[in-house]
Amino acid sequence: MGKHDSRSCVLITGATTGIGYELAKLYAEEGYNLILIARNKAKLEERKYELNLLYNVNIHILALDLALDNSCEEIINYINRKNLTVDVLINNAGVGTFGYIAEIDLEEEMKLIDINIKALTKLTKLILPSMIENGEGAILNVASTAAFCAGPKMAVYYASKAYVLNFTEALYEEVRDRGIKVSCLCPGAVKTEFQDRAGIKKKEIAKKNLMLPKDVARIAYRDFNKGKLIIIPGFKNKLMVFLNKLMPRSLSRKIILFMNKEN
Ligand SMILES: NC(=O)c1ccc[n+]([C@@H]2O[C@H](COP(=O)([O-])OP(=O)(O)OC[C@H]3O[C@@H](n4cnc5c(N)ncnc54)[C@H](OP(=O)(O)O)[C@@H]3O)[C@@H](O)[C@H]2O)c1
Repeated sequence: MGKHDSRSCVLITGATTGIGYELAKLYAEEGYNLILIARNKAKLEERKYELNLLYNVNIHILALDLALDNSCEEIINYINRKNLTVDVLINNAGVGTFGYIAEIDLEEEMKLIDINIKALTKLTKLILPSMIENGEGAILNVASTAAFCAGPKMAVYYASKAYVLNFTEALYEEVRDRGIKVSCLCPGAVKTEFQDRAGIKKKEIAKKNLMLPKDVARIAYRDFNKGKLIIIPGFKNKLMVFLNKLMPRSLSRKIILFMNKEN
């Protein structure tokens, strides 16, 4: 892909912290221009400044709330106005909610669906046609190990990630012969702001063994470049997904409910 063409970019949503920022650093290190998206403008400016000190790449920042209806159209308008092309799309932004379905605020759950599902689908559909036309491109969608099972006390989040996994697998099959790489990143728990933002209060045991975002990003970057469809970082997470596939779903649901209860 044309990383040395000043117009071609890697677009990353949720790029100011956690996995998204670590991926941004890896791409900048390799000489890719970036379009970074998040809501907090000051944080975006700070990240742009930091990356510009270290790497000689063009960095575009866009402060947008992906939960809002026309945010994806605004991204496309910006790309067209600046005459940029997106070689790599990373749909990373995602939020969680925690608690019983009957108790979590309705607005918060709807926002989750707008960010985790709607914006991811819309951005993919808006950017994919130009990748198909160019005969090259790459799309990395960030799901979770939650994508493989039902998640009592995080029902909407787990279901949203199952959507991301299924959507991404279907996309992979549709475009695999058209020069476009498609991967789905499925991390287990990662030490980022995500857990606190989502108000997650799990058993102590479930809070242990968090991976570092920089390790998750490095594995994702490597396997995405190799064209691997489903990327599960870390041996323990791979084992967990494997064991979950072997056990009856009724047992898997009970274990997850137990883990998602406080001590
Ligand atoms: N951390 C984990 O344990 C874990 C595990 C499995 C999967 N994941 C998935 O990995 C992805 C990244 O998670 P992370 O842990 O790195 O998250 P994080 O540290 O909470 O960072 C989230 C990023 O998304 C941005 N963001 C949040 N809401 C947004 C919105 N409405 N519009 C635009 N940008 C928004 C945030 O910036 P602003 O606040 O400025 O908008 C920030 O840059 C998510 O899809 C998450 O579901 C995380």
